[in-house]
Amino acid sequence: METSRLPIGVFDSGIGGLTVMRAIQERLPHESVVYFGDRARCPYGDRQPEEVIRFSEEIADYLFASGIKLLVVACNTATAVALHNLQERLPIPVVGVIAPGALSAVRATRNRRIGVIGTSVTVSSHAYRKAICTIAPDIVVHELACPLFVPLVERGQLDGDHVEAVVRQSLKPLAGSDIDSLVLGCTHYPLLAPIIRRVMGAAVQVISSADATAAHVARLLAERNLRNTDSAKPMYRYLTSGDSASLKVALANWFAEPVVAAAVEHVDAPL
Ligand code: SIN
Repeated sequence: METSRLPIGVFDSGIGGLTVMRAIQERLPHESVVYFGDRARCPYGDRQPEEVIRFSEEIADYLFASGIKLLVVACNTATAVALHNLQERLPIPVVGVIAPGALSAVRATRNRRIGVIGTSVTVSSHAYRKAICTIAPDIVVHELACPLFVPLVERGQLDGDHVEAVVRQSLKPLAGSDIDSLVLGCTHYPLLAPIIRRVMGAAVQVISSADATAAHVARLLAERNLRNTDSAKPMYRYLTSGDSASLKVALANWFAEPVVAAAVEHVDAPL
């Protein structure tokens, strides 16, 4: 098959990367996409970086062997610790979510004070601080780990009093930081965005890297002459190391067509 007609590969530790996949589907409606969510080994955010690198390499090799033209690491934790390895490993473009998210935040802030929330691994790597300060060294970055958010999202708990209490308590350390922008530095967090917005208040812009990552993918495909010009309907495949039935329920609950009509398959991990 011509390279331009191959799908884009997208992976995450779980379902959070679907927020990036949806942005890609909206921006690039002719592109087929194959998604892998490593739900059997989620969350990645509290693991050792070496383990996250090993899982990421396994998934990248698996998707590459299945035939993809570009890989999106739709997981901030994997981007923080494994992006460079994956870029060296695969002979196709490999895109992470941190650089696009950092750039969006720099463009959004007015008072030059940005908050970043993410998993423990992402926050300890300071990958966002480095990316933001490389673009604009004068910006003050407040980083905060919110390890309770991913388990909530994976369990499908996206609203209600308990979730709001967990979000409020987790974000307390940002009170008094005077940030005007908050980066959701984990692809699961956009699914909690309504509550995060409510807790942070209207003065703080909440930034997800999904749209900026999709825009970056669109640019790269155009630059490398990899855009699919075929008018046939795109194919969407959803692979998970977890239970395929529960992924179907998650897709049906949170994402509109064409996702609900898509093929969902279980794949055993390690791959
Ligand atoms: C996780 O698996 O802990 C979260 C994924 C992410 O960092 O986006």
